[in-house]
Amino acid sequence: MGFSYLIPAGNPINHTKHKEIYFTTLLKNMKVLVATEKPFAKVAVDGIRQVVEKAGYELALLEKYTDKKQLLEAVADADALIIRSDIVDNAVLDAAKQLKIVVRAGAGFDNIDLEAATAHKVVAMNTPGQNSNAVAELALGLMVYAVRNLYNGTSGTELKGKKLGIHAFGNVGRNVARIAQGFGMDVYAYDAYCPDQVMIDAKVTPLHSAEELYRTCNVISLHIPATAETKQSINYALLSQMPQPALLVNTARKEVVNEDELIRLMQDRSDFRYVTDIMPAAHEKMNELFAGRYFATPKKMGAQTAEANINAGIAAANQIVDFFVNGNTRFQVNK
Ligand code: 3PG
Repeated sequence: MGFSYLIPAGNPINHTKHKEIYFTTLLKNMKVLVATEKPFAKVAVDGIRQVVEKAGYELALLEKYTDKKQLLEAVADADALIIRSDIVDNAVLDAAKQLKIVVRAGAGFDNIDLEAATAHKVVAMNTPGQNSNAVAELALGLMVYAVRNLYNGTSGTELKGKKLGIHAFGNVGRNVARIAQGFGMDVYAYDAYCPDQVMIDAKVTPLHSAEELYRTCNVISLHIPATAETKQSINYALLSQMPQPALLVNTARKEVVNEDELIRLMQDRSDFRYVTDIMPAAHEKMNELFAGRYFATPKKMGAQTAEANINAGIAAANQIVDFFVNGNTRFQVNK
């Protein structure tokens, strides 16, 4: 992408842009804005404040905002921005005249317009792995909830001995595998970008296509990011290969599932259940049509634990300080 803020060790003034950032960090009281429509736990905000203030910077907070205008105003004088699933698009970047870095405290960064960030010379980062255990625990929680018939008092089934297919073996997928093995599940995974050996080392059976995974497993847990390639990719053709009874668990992104085709499939197959941490656009309709075999959390809850908030929030604050002080761009996603 043709730019980098990396400040060369020992000689921070070699390049014009580096020089500019370096002197800015020396001369200015940097302002770090935490803008979270869905706030962190207080203990995480306290930890972020400690890191930011220890570095000599100022912390500003915009929590539970309801109107994008509030975000546009708040970013006007921010040098750094910490967000969660908050949208950082061209309008936000235009309004953020001082902004040098935005850190998504979490894994998925589909809420940041990366090209616009690059065009505005803003470094975008995420904090991979920091909230993955929390999301994985919720995935298993949703699985138990589904196989126990949404705790409606009727006899359900157990997870032990069932075949679980993990679709994408990143940080969350690996934690799901670890926890599912504790339940005695037989764990399989498919990830085009992950070497077989990583799965084998985790005692997971690697499969080599999504079709093979869905054909093999009664339970599928989605852990793919929302990209041009994955959006709408979980469709009728794929889901219809799952053996009966089938359970799809989504703690990833709404956009990866083709909702219309999922609805059609659930109409065709009464054995098919869907539990999700990301409410579908067709939530009301699905609730009505598939009572007892469909559930969506009212708000995305996967990363909503004190531990995950602390891990991801403080990692974001540390990455900002490390960027300003040392030019560290290790977690940059818009290179
Ligand atoms: C992530 O991508 O890290 C998770 O989806 C959590 O998102 P959240 O911070 O908005 O809860």
